[in-house]
This record gives sequence, structure tokens and C-alpha cells, in this order.
Amino acid sequence: MSLKEVKKYINTNRRDFADKPFNEEMASNDPVEQYSIWFKEAMSSNIVDPYAACLSTVDNSGRPSSRILYIRDFNRDGFIFYTNYDSKKGSDILENNYGALNVFWGELERQIRIKGLIKKVDDSTSDKYFNDRPRASQIGAWASDQSQKIKNRKELESKIKFYEDKFKGINIPRPSNWGGYNLSPYQIEFWQGRPSRLHDRILYVKENNQWVKSRLSP
Ligand SMILES: Cc1cc2nc3c(=O)[nH]c(=O)nc-3n(C[C@H](O)[C@H](O)[C@H](O)COP(=O)(O)O)c2cc1C
Repeated sequence: MSLKEVKKYINTNRRDFADKPFNEEMASNDPVEQYSIWFKEAMSSNIVDPYAACLSTVDNSGRPSSRILYIRDFNRDGFIFYTNYDSKKGSDILENNYGALNVFWGELERQIRIKGLIKKVDDSTSDKYFNDRPRASQIGAWASDQSQKIKNRKELESKIKFYEDKFKGINIPRPSNWGGYNLSPYQIEFWQGRPSRLHDRILYVKENNQWVKSRLSP
């Protein structure tokens, strides 16, 4: 296929969305409960990694960065993900703790947009999650200075070997620069695709510690 054909495909390929309404009456009064309802539907829809989300952060000069990661827990207090605290996202969060998560479930024609404040979870929560990870992932957390430049793949592989030897036969402790963050939401939007681009958008905004629901124009 030529580049011209690729571009034609991108430019002209159109599909309509199914007619599956989502309205104010159907939407729970609690957006975390609503996330849970949609999550269960995502789980039974053969979606690859339904817990994957795009996290956006912004550095202190106002420049945004986005990347996919896994939301590993959620509750009334927020959405938890695990990462390296010294990574690019970690340094952004240190400078500016506002962040946004975007969950896209194409098979369900759904998007969830979450804005919130990001804070590290407590050490015991990170320890518990780290201890349950496969050993190879634990070694990886030690060996990877996430987001830093390395010479080549070999450098990473020799660090893996170094930590495999160092921790041989013993439990691997959590590195102090690896752990969880909680994004505590103040705004959550549920988007459901509808025909003719007349999509349903239900927005929840936290006002005086209460969630207030409204509808946005598509
Ligand atoms: C499907 C998928 C899942 C990922 N899950 C995580 C994750 O849970 N934690 C993480 O730190 N990076 C995860 N990554 C890697 C990130 O996208 C990113 O490369 C990494 O966190 C470094 O980002 P940063 O340099 O902006 O900090 C995942 C990537 C993909 C494609």
C-alpha cells in the first residue's frame, strides 16, 4: 500500500457509532460507581487491557506529556497507578500535581476523562502492590532508571543481571523511587458515541465535596 493510499484511508474513512444511549437518568449519582459499572461491561467485552489509560501531566513551563499506563486500583479517593517516581511523569507531578487520565474503550464506543490532583500513595500500599508483582517486574523496577537515556539495550540487560545476582534467593524490596500515585478526581466525564456525532456526554464536577451532574454538548 502506498503512502498516498494510507493518507486517503486516514482522510476519508468514516464510520458511524451505534445507537446506545447514555443519559442523566441512567448515570449513577456517583461517578466512581459509574466507572465501576462501565468497567464491568469493558471486562466482558474482550477489551485488551481495560485498565489501561492515558495519563497527561504538565511540567512547570506548561508543557504537557501523555503516556499510557495501567490504573491498578480505584475507589472513592481516586485512581491509583504505579511507576518510577524519578521518571518524566514523576518530575512533572513534582512540579505540578494536576493531571488527567483518559480511558478509551473503542469496542464500546466509550471514553472516560478524569481530571484530578496527584499524590503519592502511602508506602504500605506501594509495598503491598510491589510484593505481589512477578519477580522479573520487581527486578525491572530496580534496573530501569525510567525515562533516562541509556547507551544501548545491553546496558539495561547487564543491570538486570546485576540485580538478579544481588537479590538471588532473597525477597526483593521495593526501590524507594518506585511506587504508586493516586489521582484524586474533581471532574469526570463519561462519553458515549451516538450516531451522526450526536454523542452523549455526562459530566460530574465536585462542588463542596458533592458530585454535580450535567450534560455537555457533543
Ligand atoms: C499498555 C501499556 C501499559 C503501560 N503501563 C505502565 C504503567 O503501569 N506504569 C508505567 O510507569 N509505565 C507504563 N507504561 C509505559 C509508559 O507508557 C511510559 O513509557 C513510561 O511510564 C515512561 O513515561 P514518562 O517518561 O513520561 O514518565 C505502559 C505502556 C503501555 C503501552
